[in-house]
Amino acid sequence: MEVTDAIDRRRSIRRFKNKEIPEGMLKEVLRAGHMAPSAGNLQARDYIIVQDNAVKELLAMAAHNQYFIMSAPVCIVVCANVSRSSARYGKRGELYAVQDASAAIMNMMLMAQNLELGTCWIGAFNEAAITYLLELPSGVRPVALLPIGYPDESPEAPPRMGEAAEHWGKW
Ligand SMILES: Cc1cc2nc3c(=O)[nH]c(=O)nc-3n(C[C@H](O)[C@H](O)[C@H](O)COP(=O)(O)O)c2cc1C
Repeated sequence: MEVTDAIDRRRSIRRFKNKEIPEGMLKEVLRAGHMAPSAGNLQARDYIIVQDNAVKELLAMAAHNQYFIMSAPVCIVVCANVSRSSARYGKRGELYAVQDASAAIMNMMLMAQNLELGTCWIGAFNEAAITYLLELPSGVRPVALLPIGYPDESPEAPPRMGEAAEHWGKW
């Protein structure tokens, strides 16, 4: 699949088939995350791979009752490792770590699309609840929950602002 196809065809998927993902595919998706750029190549991001149904349910509750998460066989919680980035970059490292995690998330979403898997970037959640549930150490912040599975819906592309968001030369 061309990159253009993956970019154009990717949609947020909120309904998944009751079908496991082969481990090789999951590893490919994770590898795509590892290959994303990062500030100073510090790769200030970590991944919690959740497959247990009871934990997925607790994730869904922490994500303000977004229970569709439970229909995905896997949910990857992508975290910003602020400690790792701030050790070199100080305050700026807080932003870099979130950017490092975000770059990984997008790479993973496109790789999932390439494998004809569906994903959804979930950013609405109670951070303290996720931190407690997954026993994240201090200095590690969850950035997104990423349910992954075989899509069971084909949503239309929501409209984009397109050129209205482009500022050529200056604002
Ligand atoms: C930072 C961020 C947070 C998001 N949080 C949620 C979320 O909590 N729940 C959800 O269902 N979708 C969430 N989304 C997905 C967006 O709703 C979706 O990307 C947008 O509507 C465009 O649709 P598309 O992804 O199909 O192109 C989030 C996306 C981003 C980038």
